[in-house]
Amino acid sequence: MAYQNIIVETRSKVGLVTLNRPQALNALNEALIAELNEALSGFESNPEIGCTVITGSEKAFAAGADVKEMAEKTYVESYLGKFLDGWTRIAETRKPVIAAVSGFCLGGGLELAMMCDIIIASETSRFALPEITLGIMPGAGGTQRLPRFIGKAKAMDLILTGRMMDASEAERCGLVARVVAPDKMLDAALAAAAKIASYSQPIVMMAKETVNRAQETPLSEGARFERRVFLSMFATEDQKEGMQAFIEKRKPAFRNR
Ligand code: CAA
Repeated sequence: MAYQNIIVETRSKVGLVTLNRPQALNALNEALIAELNEALSGFESNPEIGCTVITGSEKAFAAGADVKEMAEKTYVESYLGKFLDGWTRIAETRKPVIAAVSGFCLGGGLELAMMCDIIIASETSRFALPEITLGIMPGAGGTQRLPRFIGKAKAMDLILTGRMMDASEAERCGLVARVVAPDKMLDAALAAAAKIASYSQPIVMMAKETVNRAQETPLSEGARFERRVFLSMFATEDQKEGMQAFIEKRKPAFRNR
């Protein structure tokens, strides 16, 4: 597929998607989301790829869903056209995805980042869910994911006032995993992705699935799920290899089996 709104590359075992609508600060229109889904599906089915990084420009990761595209939508049009349904696919990605954020990460841009597994942010990042200022509320998971990341009090503050949060506040409240100098941000994200991709792919995917269970189940259920998945790992060759390599004081050679 020839992409118009994103740039898709691979760096060894890492897939890299760069959102590329500079004229609109990477506002997420339907065409871009469709392309992003296509790229993620490609990486998902490519056995060589172990992790994906999604990034934007220095000025904007993404300034939200495309306001110009949705301004005139009617309810019936958006209902029949399944508006925003395409976004869900991103959250269903089984291999890990890192959001490498610089500049504005607003509205749907923040919702996209929160669908990723790890957010690594540059010191220049600004986060907000400003939908309230447009006469709407977040519609791509923001009202549900943000409280899970940062708690109800701060999520209410951000969603009801629409204010922007800087990178250090975002790190303090647990929205982002790391804050990095602007010129080091993408390298830090790619290095984290390369590290993840160097491990056993099925084990990484099972770990991601299990951590995500913590968001959706009570502790006792989640712990039971964890135990099941943990025990199943002893049926993999990579568990045997990983532990044998430790005992023999050598680097493991994972074969994704
Ligand atoms: N949709 C469409 N176009 C956008 C956009 C968006 N979300 N954000 C920025 N742009 C466009 C601007 O319209 C402008 O285009 P023109 O040059 O054609 O006028 C261009 O990008 C550059 O933007 P600005 O001139 O506004 O740049 P700035 O540096 O002065 O301001 C900004 C930057 C503060 C991010 C400002 O652009 C802004 O407030 N953007 C909108 C942010 C927003 O409200 N996002 C939420 C969208 S709703 C949503 O996401 C719903 C959902 O939950 C799914």
